Amino acid sequence: MNKAVTARAHTNIALIKYWGKANAELIIPQNSSLSLTLEPFYTDTTVEFAPELTQDQIKIDGQLQTTMAGQRVRTFLDLVRQRVGRDDFAYVNSTNHVPTAAGLASSASGFAALAAAASKAAGLMLDRPALSRLARRGSGSATRSIYGGFVEWQKGHNDADSQAVPFQEHIDFDIQMIAILLDPRPKKIASRAGMAQVVATSPYYPAWPASAEKDLQAMKTAILKKDLNLIGQLAEANAMKMHATTLSATPPFTYFEPETLQAIEIVQGLRNNGVSCYYTMDAGPNVKVICSAQATPTILAALRQHFAADHLLVAQPGPGISYL
Ligand code: PMV
Repeated sequence: MNKAVTARAHTNIALIKYWGKANAELIIPQNSSLSLTLEPFYTDTTVEFAPELTQDQIKIDGQLQTTMAGQRVRTFLDLVRQRVGRDDFAYVNSTNHVPTAAGLASSASGFAALAAAASKAAGLMLDRPALSRLARRGSGSATRSIYGGFVEWQKGHNDADSQAVPFQEHIDFDIQMIAILLDPRPKKIASRAGMAQVVATSPYYPAWPASAEKDLQAMKTAILKKDLNLIGQLAEANAMKMHATTLSATPPFTYFEPETLQAIEIVQGLRNNGVSCYYTMDAGPNVKVICSAQATPTILAALRQHFAADHLLVAQPGPGISYL
């Protein structure tokens, strides 16, 4: 009997970035990465297989999907169907609880929630490592959204061993993020295309994987020491090394917008005045500030002088996947 299954997955922001694939089809990364799962940003996805359907019916935020986003979901469902040996289609209804078009990694929460809901609806009982590997096939960053807190995606070598492991699911020190929403337009260059272009053309890319692995080891030590300043320094430097590879690609590109630099300057200014805060950025112009809850009011006050209050979103660490 078919039944509807609903799963919730929270998005995550990498402190050590995944950047570049070793295997594009299986989404095996060139380097391991480490992220923080965030409480307020999540996706709820319901999947129900239905014999009456002649094709998958995919709704994201109430909109029936006919184009690109829908195709990625269909390809993912094919993978699930293949594993269980079924050929019926499904209703997929996905709602992003991330401010609309905020550009905040909805593919991470989206594919993690889809992996959990679709596999269970199809009759597969996957444990969390297996769910993480399945989510990886939808989007690299989704690999990590199966778990809460600090999560490491161990790059592995193949489909069977490239998966996330929880590094610290329950965080007992003061760390959170402020997401600064700068540009609600869709990304100019999707992360998938951006990293492919970088791997293929940047003469600086070959230095990235080893440098990221080194940063990852240092980050793990910093987390165990609960050293917020060191965590912030490492995350900021790692993000900028990633962004340096876009400027050195052919043709060169950047995810920075003028407001990105403005946000970075505010963070640096606060730091010069003794406020502990650091920035990171993904494949888009938005800036995420890494800080303590204690320092957040001061940082928000400074940011509000330049950015609208409703573009500043405070995010505490969040949990892993759940079924509703
Ligand atoms: O898996 P994707 O396509 O969402 O790629 C994510 C890449 C970065 O966000 C830039 C880094 C990361 O580790 O999340």
